[in-house]
Parts: sequence; C-alpha cells; structure tokens
Amino acid sequence: MARLDRILLKANLWLLSAVSLYAFALFLFATPWVQRQALFSHAAKWPLWANFSDPVRYGLAPYKTYTFSLTTSDNHTLGAWHVLPDAYYHTHTPYPILPRSPLPPNAQAEAFAQRPTVIYFHGNAASRAAHYRVSLYSALSTRLNVNVVAIDYRGFGENAGKPSQAGLTRDARAAFDWVTKDMGVDTVRVMLMGQSLGTGVVSQLAAELESEGIRPRGIVLVAAFENIEELLSTYTIFKFLPIVRPLRLFPGLERWYLSHLTDKFDSSLALRDISCPILLMHARNDGDIPCTHSVHLFDSLLEPLLPERPFTRFEEETMSEGQKAEWESNDEERKEMRKTLVQEITVEGFATIRSFDRPEGRGPVFFLNTLYGGHNLISSHEGAMDVMGRVMDLGIGEQ
Ligand SMILES: *[C@@H]1O[C@H](CO)[C@@H](O)[C@H](O)[C@H]1NC(C)=O
Ligand SMILES: *[C@@H]1O[C@H](CO)[C@@H](O)[C@H](O)[C@H]1NC(C)=O
Repeated sequence: MARLDRILLKANLWLLSAVSLYAFALFLFATPWVQRQALFSHAAKWPLWANFSDPVRYGLAPYKTYTFSLTTSDNHTLGAWHVLPDAYYHTHTPYPILPRSPLPPNAQAEAFAQRPTVIYFHGNAASRAAHYRVSLYSALSTRLNVNVVAIDYRGFGENAGKPSQAGLTRDARAAFDWVTKDMGVDTVRVMLMGQSLGTGVVSQLAAELESEGIRPRGIVLVAAFENIEELLSTYTIFKFLPIVRPLRLFPGLERWYLSHLTDKFDSSLALRDISCPILLMHARNDGDIPCTHSVHLFDSLLEPLLPERPFTRFEEETMSEGQKAEWESNDEERKEMRKTLVQEITVEGFATIRSFDRPEGRGPVFFLNTLYGGHNLISSHEGAMDVMGRVMDLGIGEQ
C-alpha cells in the first residue's frame, strides 16, 4: 500500500512539474522578446561568419552578383545582392573567364532593362547566403533568366536592428523602391517572391503598394501561412509537440492567448484587396507549415466570387428544418459555381494546379500543390519554376 502511494505521489509530482514547465513556457512566450526570438529566429546566423562581399564563395559564378546596401525609410542599412540573369551574364562573360570583370559599368541597368526581376524575401532564421537560398537564386537566374534581388532583413545577416512585422515591411519596401526608383525598373516587370515567413512580408508589402495604386507583375507565395495565430495553432515542435493546442482544454483560452501576439502577419486579410496575379506554391510533404494554409488562402481569395452564405455557421442542433434546407441548397450553388470558376489540372507524380480568373481587372490566382519539395526546396524544383515562368509570363523558352 505504502509503495503504491509512493508511486502515485511520484507520478503526481512528475505531472505537476510538466504542467508547471508548460505554463512557464507559455508565460515566457507571452513576452514580445521571446515571441520575436521564436518567430524570426534571427539569432540563428547561418552560414556562420558569412562574408557577404563574396557571393562566389556560396556558389554563384564570378562577377554574376553585385553586393550593395539599402537604406530603409527609418534609416536602417540592409545588405543585399543583385544576381544577374544568365542570358545577360553569358553574353559578356566568355569562358575561360577573365581575371577582371568583363561586364560593362552599366551592367546592372542593362540587365534590369533586358529581363524581369524577382525580389526575394526569405523565411526566418539564417541569411541570404544559406545554401538552399543560393540554389534558388541560381535556379531563378538560369531557368527563368530573371534578375534576382535578395535582401536580409534588419537583425538578419550582417544587419543591425530588431525585427518586427512593421520593420520587415519597411525593409521590403526599401528593396522594392531601390529596384523601381533607384534602378528605374517599371513596376510591371517586378515580381515579389516570399518564402515561409517571407510570404507574410510580401503580403504586407503588396497590400501597402495596392493602397498606393502601385501594381507589381505578380506575387509568388511559397509555403505560405494564413496568419501567425493559425500557424501556431497548427504548429508542432519536431512534428509532434503541439505548442498551444493543449489550451483548447479551456474554452476560449487558446484564442485569447493567440490574440495577444505581437506580430500577426495576417496574410489572409492583406491579400483580400490585392489585384495583381497571385501564385501560391506549397508542397504536400511540407513538415513545417501544412499545405492546408495555402488551401485556405486560395479558398479565401475565391470566396468573394461564390454565392454568399445565408448565415455564418452551420449548426445542425440549433437550426430549423427550413434553415437546414436553405443551407444545403446554398451549398449546392456554391459547389456548382466553384466548378465553373476553378480549373484544375493534375500532373501525375508532380502536382495539382488550381486556378481561377478574377473580374474587374484583377489578375488570376494560381495554386501549385506539389507532392514533393518540403518546406525549403519546393521553389527551386524545376517544375515549380516553370509554372512560375508561365503564370508570370516570363517568356521562357523564347531565348
Ligand atoms: C570577403 O570577401 C571579399 C571579396 O572576395 C574579400 O576582399 C575580403 O577580404 C573578404 N573578407 C574576409 C574577412 O575574408
Ligand atoms: C541615419 O544613420 C546615419 C548613420 O547610421 C546617421 O549618420 C544619420 O544621421 C541618420 N539619419 C537620420 C535621418 O536619422
């Protein structure tokens, strides 16, 4: 008997410690500093001791990349790279390569005039020199033959400063203004591409540009999330430890907790008014952000084109027979409308591509749902690149 008591006592102590530890972790996470460390992970400097003046070291061809810095509207300095499109680079750089740059002094301007530009906004942690990011610049500049401008946000890479939603949006704006104002590139020749956390940044920037009547050629959102609240409620550490889901045991506590986040990156809201073409890309084997986030973003962009719901929610228990019938017939109408609007192609072994056109001069919406590519490598998969090339009308195959 005494033995059993001891075991029970021990078990209770364990449980108590686990619950206290969890409560303490939640408490820590409620402080903006810890939240930002977790969300941006900018303290994870990778590669370590990177030399950003030496892009060749990370795999880009000699003289193909220009290193420069940007100044944001709140006076932050950001390191950036401009990677030339291969079509331009090769016309000036015959091999064997010369010991000094054979490119003309106005090479950047010429390349910007010749080919469209992708401004790339990376996800959290590491810098623009991370190998999986460099392989994307390489793929974009060869397969799609575009100019690539890649920046590091404040607090990332070699940059000073503390990241925040407002700060990163300013950083993105500085990059867009550098390309369109300093380099004089027409906004319809500029695409904004974000990956993971970067999709939140691109959505904020695109909404800001829209409000000023500025229209880029399109936006590409790779492994997007709806907003941080949704992300956290689906997020699991090491793919099995849910962070905030246990709070669901207490009604309303999870929502209350999540509504106090410092940076929300509400892309579902930001994208609502954007009129340029939108391409979502998400791999089904993404282990960090489930592709249901992109499915929901696609659906929320489609929503205004469907017959409105008669009331907000279907609740079987509380509805009259008449209301149920009304809901069901509305459901049928919505399904029919969806069928006539959404085109869907399945490419065996590669992906499903869904798309629909939008009225009133708004660009189309595409959703490329690939089987493979995971969280980081999907954007440099050749098939995904080609879809981007077609959707953004980059004239691939015309060279
Ligand atoms: C960084 O790279 C540049 C360009 O190759 C070189 O001149 C410089 O010495 C390097 N700096 C360090 C600390 O290695
Ligand atoms: C911007 O920063 C630079 C150096 O960091 C400083 O010299 C300058 O006065 C600042 N300008 C403004 C407008 O804050």
